[in-house]
Amino acid sequence: MMQADTEVHKGLEGVIVTESSVGFVDGQAGRLVYRGYNIETLADNSNYEEVAYLLLYGHLPNAKEFENFRARLRTTMDLNADVVALIKSIAPKAHPMSVLRTVVSFIGAQDQKSNSTDLRDQEEMSLKLMSKLPAIVGTISRASKGQDAIKPDPELSYAANFLYCSTGKRPDKEHEKIMDTCLILHADHGSNASTFSALVTISTLADMYSAVTSAISTLKGPLHGGANELALETIKKVAKPENAEHVLSEMLAKKEKIMGFGHRVYKVYDPRARILKKYAESVTRRNGKEDLFRTAEQMEKVMISKLGEKGIFPNVDFYSGMVYDSLGFDSRMFTPIFALARIAGWTARSLEYIRDNKLFRPKAKYIGEAGPKEYVGIQKR
Ligand code: ACO
Repeated sequence: MMQADTEVHKGLEGVIVTESSVGFVDGQAGRLVYRGYNIETLADNSNYEEVAYLLLYGHLPNAKEFENFRARLRTTMDLNADVVALIKSIAPKAHPMSVLRTVVSFIGAQDQKSNSTDLRDQEEMSLKLMSKLPAIVGTISRASKGQDAIKPDPELSYAANFLYCSTGKRPDKEHEKIMDTCLILHADHGSNASTFSALVTISTLADMYSAVTSAISTLKGPLHGGANELALETIKKVAKPENAEHVLSEMLAKKEKIMGFGHRVYKVYDPRARILKKYAESVTRRNGKEDLFRTAEQMEKVMISKLGEKGIFPNVDFYSGMVYDSLGFDSRMFTPIFALARIAGWTARSLEYIRDNKLFRPKAKYIGEAGPKEYVGIQKR
């Protein structure tokens, strides 16, 4: 007998690995909750910095706490010359997610505190990284097009600063609100693959930069954060509402997965997609890309008629790509924008986990030969 407990939970599906009070996804009811607040409530009334504070510290900040938090983020928001030079040297050729992963790791290597396992230092690293991300992701976007970096403006919000560092223009209120809402919607989402990666890394008592580097690497894949890039490609391929039926039928007949649909947890409409759909309609109309929205809307109808009974509905990635495209971003920037938001969830859950740490060490069921086999020298094989 090789192993006694042999039940395999592929992909850890259904396995509860920890407790958390950060957030909750109810896949049957289509509900997403951050610390007790429905995502719709936060999207309508809050802003990203408040939501990040809520996820990190468990309550919405009062005015003084909020000002202190914003002031804290402002003190480390600038990028030093080495970081800008690194981005400029690799961004023209590499995928922006590879650049982001490298830059976060590089900033960790520059921080003397990154060998500390002290909780306060881990929190400090979390805030430092969060504060720099608008400028990092904005600079990656610009450098990939050969443009110079723009210094973040301490007067602007997290969302507005990101748009400013990306485009060089201070956004109007409408674009700022759309960006801010996208960031709120992506700030946390239960024990997803990238968050789990962060937890595995932090559970070894590695530093927060290492945890976030792991999370970024995991977010890169097309079955996770990378889906929004591919979802927009599919919408562009369909091109017109009247093509949706036959293009999707052909793809499904070939057993292709349609990016932007389906979710491991949601078996009903993703509440984030519902909120984003509204913004996608207004921003595409404003920026002359309404055809994209009408095509997506028809694709949604076709997909729900074909696969709705299997619990396949649009997920957040279906509409987010279109929103970012309308804001002027290249599709390769979509997943870094996801990371810009998810830093709050990654760090909040990592800090929560190490307060009551247990090293992750699952098992694999061995299905190889039992042996013991005889060793045969290389000349005789
Ligand atoms: N297109 C076509 N068929 C699909 C899709 C899809 N996007 N998603 C699921 N299905 C099919 C499955 O093939 C399966 O068919 P079967 O019954 O014939 O075997 C059936 O629907 C049920 O699928 P599930 O088992 O419920 O899907 P699962 O939980 O394994 O996968 C996943 C979820 C990986 C997200 C999948 O839906 C998918 O690949 N979607 C496309 C990628 C995507 O959009 N990812 C983003 C997720 S959201 C995020 O990460 C922020």
